[in-house]
This record gives sequence, C-alpha cells and structure tokens, in this order.
Amino acid sequence: MRPTHFLAFSAGICVGTQVGLRQGHRRQPRPWPVLWAPLLDHPWRLRYRDPVRTLGPFGIAPGSQVVDLGCGTGTFTVEMARQVGQEGRVHAVDLQAPMVQRARERLEQAGLLARVQLHHATAYRLPLDDESVDLVIAIATLVEIPDPGMVLAEIHRVLRPGGRLAISEELPHPGYVPAWVARRWLTAAGFRFGGQQRTPLCYSLLYFKAE
Ligand SMILES: C[S@@+](CC[C@H](N)C(=O)[O-])C[C@H]1O[C@@H](n2cnc3c(N)ncnc32)[C@H](O)[C@@H]1O
Repeated sequence: MRPTHFLAFSAGICVGTQVGLRQGHRRQPRPWPVLWAPLLDHPWRLRYRDPVRTLGPFGIAPGSQVVDLGCGTGTFTVEMARQVGQEGRVHAVDLQAPMVQRARERLEQAGLLARVQLHHATAYRLPLDDESVDLVIAIATLVEIPDPGMVLAEIHRVLRPGGRLAISEELPHPGYVPAWVARRWLTAAGFRFGGQQRTPLCYSLLYFKAE
C-alpha cells in the first residue's frame, strides 16, 4: 500500500471510530471503560489537562471540603489533596471500584491518602451530609451521566449555601457537549453563573449555589 493510501486509510479509521463512539454516547451516556483508564493519564492528555492549570481557576482554598466527582484514576485528586492542605478534605467519588482502587494507590504513593476519603458510590446518591462541602469539581464526568439534572440536584443538596460547582469538559471525550448545553443544565438546576474559561480543547464553568 502506498504511504498516502495508508495515511488516508488510517485517518478514515480514526474519524469513523470517533463518529461511532460519539453517536453511541449521545444515545446512551456511559462511564469511561476501565480498560481505557490508562488514557486518562496519557502524556498527550496531560499536555492539555495539566492538573495545576486545570484546577487553578477553581481557587481551591486551604482547609476546604472538596468533592472530586468521578475521580477516575485520581489524575486530579492528588493535586486537589495538595491544595486543600492538612486541614482540608477531598471526597473522591467514583462509580467503578477499579477506578477508586487506582486512585487509592496513587494517593498512597504520593503520601496524601490521609487527606482524601474515597467513596465507591454513584453521583446520584452521594454519601455526604446536606450542605457539608465547599466545592464540587466534576472533570469529564457530567457528560457520562444519563440524567445530569438528577445529579445536579444531588450536588445542590451537599453544597453549603454560597458553595461552588466547577464543571470541566474536553473535546476528545466521546460524550463531549458544548458549553452552552452544560450551561443550560446548570441554570435549570438553580445554580448561578460565576465564570467560564476556554482552551482549544477544554472549557471550564464555575457556578454558585445561592446563599
Ligand atoms: C472520563 S472519566 C474522568 C475521570 C477524572 N475526572 C479525570 O478527568 O481524569 C469519568 C469518570 O466518572 C465516573 N462516573 C461516570 N458516571 C458516574 C456516576 N454516575 N457516578 C459516579 N461516577 C461516575 C467514571 O467511572 C469515570 O471514572
């Protein structure tokens, strides 16, 4: 096969796979497969998803109570644990036990496990008290949830009055929705807009729960 034919063939396979995955996700949103977990920490992803740069706009205060909703392999949990400091706490929640296990190993290696409570739980029913947390962060997670409205109501329940919700989505994720769609969900759930950031591949939204 000529190199040009090979390149065109490979590009066709990539585009076809992406279109198929995105259509499937639109019909039925689903959790990121555990088999694909290594992609969450792939160096290409970390180039546009550096944890310090991603979390920067969310302003995690030392001593605060933060939820990492859909923590996956703990890519961002470690940095959240650093930023909350010794007095703070991160609640890392994920639906899939192998993801929680990977996050646990990673936090242990970083010596930060004491600052994190890991929960193998669904976002539909968070194992947290009413109005008990300052900030909920959901990175590449809301688009995997079939009923985002129900999960946003649950987030509203656990946030303290004036607490913040940060949503961040990325174009390579097969469930990606544009920012205007996510903003519509958040407004419908009663959150107040606090700001938006964009990079070529990602956007982040910050919202508030009314005082
Ligand atoms: C694409 S991964 C992102 C992981 C991590 N936030 C990151 O950006 O590296 C989404 C994660 O959300 C979790 N998830 C999906 N639906 C969930 C639900 N209903 N409740 C809790 N976690 C969920 C998946 O298991 C998966 O680990």
